[in-house]
Amino acid sequence: MLYSVEKVLGEPMLKLIDKLKEMNHLTKEEWMALIEGRTADVAEYLFTQARAVREQVYGKDIYIRGLIEFTNYCKNDCLYCGIRRSNTNACRYRLDLGEILQCCEKGYELGFRTFVLQGGEDAYFTDERLEQIVKAIRGRYPECAITLSVGERSYESYKRLFDAGADRYLLRHETYNSEHYAKLHPAELSAKTRQQCLRNLKEIGYQVGCGFMVGSPYQTAEYLAEDMMFIADLKPHMVGIGPFIPHKDTPFAKEPSGTLELTLYMLGLIRLLLPNVLLPATTALGTIAPNGRELGIMAGANVVMPNLSPSVVREKYLLYNDKAYTGLEAAESVQELRESMQQIGYEVVVSRGDWLGERSK
Ligand code: 5AD
Repeated sequence: MLYSVEKVLGEPMLKLIDKLKEMNHLTKEEWMALIEGRTADVAEYLFTQARAVREQVYGKDIYIRGLIEFTNYCKNDCLYCGIRRSNTNACRYRLDLGEILQCCEKGYELGFRTFVLQGGEDAYFTDERLEQIVKAIRGRYPECAITLSVGERSYESYKRLFDAGADRYLLRHETYNSEHYAKLHPAELSAKTRQQCLRNLKEIGYQVGCGFMVGSPYQTAEYLAEDMMFIADLKPHMVGIGPFIPHKDTPFAKEPSGTLELTLYMLGLIRLLLPNVLLPATTALGTIAPNGRELGIMAGANVVMPNLSPSVVREKYLLYNDKAYTGLEAAESVQELRESMQQIGYEVVVSRGDWLGERSK
């Protein structure tokens, strides 16, 4: 039989994908080989395997989360982020408790059973104020999940918010490698502190999500391999990844975006590494390509997080240029989202969408 050159070269790569699926483990060299040696054919094979694994655990279900961006004040100065403190062009806002509860009410009617409170690191939101918000949502929606995404806080603070009724916490590790981390963040932030926060959250009992940007400035295949090894070690319940997209008022304004192609590939790899992981097709993915979310699902993702914030503030939570907040990104369009997911063979469900425990092997 005649093999094309690509086929012969591609085969060790396919073996690596099989190994990852079988063992849920690779060495650093293997991760780098898989990332650096990817081709369109290898990616197709990966996505087929990733969908099979995702369907074994979650079937055809798509979980939705209502994202409430409740403050864009931030004390941090991350070099990539549009709401960094030194961006004086950002128009700052905070939602009050009543406005947050209105978002939840609207979301509940639309079929959301998870509310994600995301914000910058805003000192106004003390433990007391956040606790009050979490308790109010918990009291009104006992059957819903509450996810917090408000950055680095002390162990005690995380514990207090967990005891108030928060179930999940999203805190991207951004990049595992300390030197890379230092090139993306101001001196007062460190990779080690970020990683410790994630371990604290897990110990307290949250369902925890970490994650990173794909194609951030200075990123290499080696750093991505280290991210995968960190994820293998932490075993988070969720992993949020999306392409880096420059924001015009940041030091990285002129840097190129991460690609759709590499983001989809990393989604597929994460699904094979952690079969049970909750994996969103993120807003950033939907921003760089009109069908980015659908492609994300086809690569192994199983979660979508439409925006539930009041429309007047949506255009203010700009982490990057042209951030999408209409169409499939908007919670009001959940019917459209249902239809677009049905078209690719998946089903948006009304459910908390919890992490489903270890698959019996
Ligand atoms: N491009 C893509 N993602 C970004 N984030 C922040 N700024 C950008 C950007 N310019 C991501 C970070 C953060 C999450 C809330 O948004 O990874 O953790």
